[in-house]
Amino acid sequence: MERYLKNKKILVTGGSKGIGKSIVDFLLVNGATVAIHYNRNEASLKNTIEKFPYKAIPFQFNLENINSIPSFMENVIQKMGYLDVLVNNAGIAISSDITGPDNDWINTWNKTMDVNLNATGFLCKKAIQHFLSMKKGGKIINISSRAAFRGDTENYMDYAASKAGMVALARSIARAFGKRGIVAFTIAPGFVQTEMAQQFFNQYGKETALDQIALNNLTNPEDIAPFVGFLASGLADHATGGTFDINAGSYVH
Ligand SMILES: NC(=O)c1ccc[n+]([C@@H]2O[C@H](COP(=O)([O-])OP(=O)(O)OC[C@H]3O[C@@H](n4cnc5c(N)ncnc54)[C@H](O)[C@@H]3O)[C@@H](O)[C@H]2O)c1
Repeated sequence: MERYLKNKKILVTGGSKGIGKSIVDFLLVNGATVAIHYNRNEASLKNTIEKFPYKAIPFQFNLENINSIPSFMENVIQKMGYLDVLVNNAGIAISSDITGPDNDWINTWNKTMDVNLNATGFLCKKAIQHFLSMKKGGKIINISSRAAFRGDTENYMDYAASKAGMVALARSIARAFGKRGIVAFTIAPGFVQTEMAQQFFNQYGKETALDQIALNNLTNPEDIAPFVGFLASGLADHATGGTFDINAGSYVH
């Protein structure tokens, strides 16, 4: 993989923990230069930055500040020189009680849409403009979810809706910009053992998650990262518009 990634400059959102951190580590080990976007967890990036000087470059930004996305992207592109790939990984999943106050429900809905879909859409717009101006194409990889296709529980309808939006976004980009060298993909994980899934495990137990899959162990972030590396490498460009299910066989179980 190193042969294909070593000259690539890649922005990964939410790169300080969970799936994002694993993607960052895989890309760096395989020679890519990575703009590591994070919100709060700079300390967790210390080792990575020390281990990969000039290759691992941190950028702090709260994706709820939608209007500042253009200046965030400008800063990233200026420091990196250019970008080849955008990986939209950052996301939130907040439990929201349908029987609770309307205000709480709509606030959670809006926050989820802002981080998962609105910020992603705006980041894609800025990346596409950059790719077009460079005239050398580009790649966008959206980390969506199995929830986009099968829906989610009553407390996570906003999450499922936001993740479904990410799928249509990637497909639209693939369709509209393919002839100008831009490809776009969706990865749709099932449960992955991170902080995000921990709230489900706490509520329902890991056995419930295991009952939904064909394999006998739950997916880890390291099971997702190599696939992102493969899509970023350029070896899979003819799969543009595609969705890749990494859910331990839950659709065939
Ligand atoms: N863990 C799972 O079971 C699972 C399943 C399917 C899809 N996913 C998706 O994978 C992606 C990564 O999730 P994870 O499991 O690693 O979760 P996580 O909670 O460990 O990490 C989420 C990341 O998003 C970032 N983030 C959240 N809100 C932000 C904000 N306002 N501004 C900037 N960054 C923000 C966090 O800093 C963190 O780096 C998410 O998009 C999630 O929806 C996760």
